[in-house]
Amino acid sequence: MRTQVAIIGGGPAGLLLSQLLHVNGIDSVILERKTRDYVLGRIRAGVLEQGLVRLMEEAGCAGRMHAEGFSHDGALISYGSEIFRIDFAEHTGTPVLIYGQTEVTRDLYDAREKAGGKIEFEVDDVMIRDADTDRPHVQYTRNGTARRIDCEFVAGCDGFHGVSRQAIPLTVRREYEKIYPFGWLGVLSKTPPVNHELIYANSERGFALCSMRNDHLSRYYIQCSLSDSPADWTDEAFWEELKRRIPKAQADTLVTGPSIEKSIAPLRSFVTEPMRWGRLFLCGDAAHIVPPTGAKGLNTAASDVHYLYNALREYYRDGSEAGINAYSKRALARVWKAERFSWWFSSLLHRYPDQSAFDLKMQLAELEFLRANRAAQQAMAENYVGLPY
Ligand code: APR
Ligand code: PHB
Repeated sequence: MRTQVAIIGGGPAGLLLSQLLHVNGIDSVILERKTRDYVLGRIRAGVLEQGLVRLMEEAGCAGRMHAEGFSHDGALISYGSEIFRIDFAEHTGTPVLIYGQTEVTRDLYDAREKAGGKIEFEVDDVMIRDADTDRPHVQYTRNGTARRIDCEFVAGCDGFHGVSRQAIPLTVRREYEKIYPFGWLGVLSKTPPVNHELIYANSERGFALCSMRNDHLSRYYIQCSLSDSPADWTDEAFWEELKRRIPKAQADTLVTGPSIEKSIAPLRSFVTEPMRWGRLFLCGDAAHIVPPTGAKGLNTAASDVHYLYNALREYYRDGSEAGINAYSKRALARVWKAERFSWWFSSLLHRYPDQSAFDLKMQLAELEFLRANRAAQQAMAENYVGLPY
């Protein structure tokens, strides 16, 4: 097979890139290790920055998102029995859109299918070859048969556990990582959300988040121990613990019900540099991970896709390599700011096992400063709705 851009990974980053390239007349093939249903079975965050909304519009995939998504102008932060609101509209003039990553992914798969896009599912043994030459190729197997794609560029969109990052030699690659000493236990339930906006809760029992997908579907999280497994948590135990971590007024009105999904995710900050090696470009979780506090994972993948698709468009339209040469630097400049925000917002809201009495006072002072200070709120709001790209 021949194509212009071989894309490893059919998650949101790979799909969005493929669709945007298609709209601009550039051919690509996606190689995905799992099935479409498997990819769509993953429950991830559901807060979209305007940058991603615009990219979905450019990709011609924004119809259902605009019809079914909810625009949010603010979010609440609670600590103990206190609660305050950060007004995104007032501080930035920009809302965020509540629309699940699963739905974004579904819309992109539908668009790729409609356009006759090539996606190879259930591939194994993907290997990127000759990325440091003008003629890279990708080898893989499907149903036990060896295959090969010759291409001009390779986009590594294969997530944190993918192979693309490993194709960059260790002499060139540098990785930065922070592991957090707790996880998030998440529950999806067919219940009305406890509040019309998200609530991020710092409590002495640990962090909690009240989020949603729509008026009848809620998503809640509580900070948990890394040794916990979802089976350790009955629905009743989950709801009881959530109620103890949010202010009484919300706990009293929380509607509970059976969970339809329950999972535990570890928290990690991770960045690999550079994001380009020869004709291989890393995009999304393949290059960086943020803790979920602030929902920057998908949004940061989207800004990478923006830089990469514009770079490839310039290359094919004008013969210019300027965008390609600038890709890693441009993408990383924004990635590190999303890393900083996610790390800061996580530090503000979680209980850390080694926190001293002094550390707790610092956390409280930070919360009270944010509550009272317009400049601090503005900085938070600008980061939350998404820094420009
Ligand atoms: N070969 C082919 N496909 C692979 C391989 C491989 N060796 N390894 C992984 N994949 C596939 C995975 O099955 C997955 O579908 O690559 C895809 C990567 O998708 P994601 O992990 O979703 O990563 P990305 O597309 O970068 O999306 C950004 O934002 O909210 C965050 O982590 C969240 O998924 C999210 C991400
Ligand atoms: C979610 O709805 O899953 C969600 C929302 C906001 C976050 C993280 C996750 O910060």
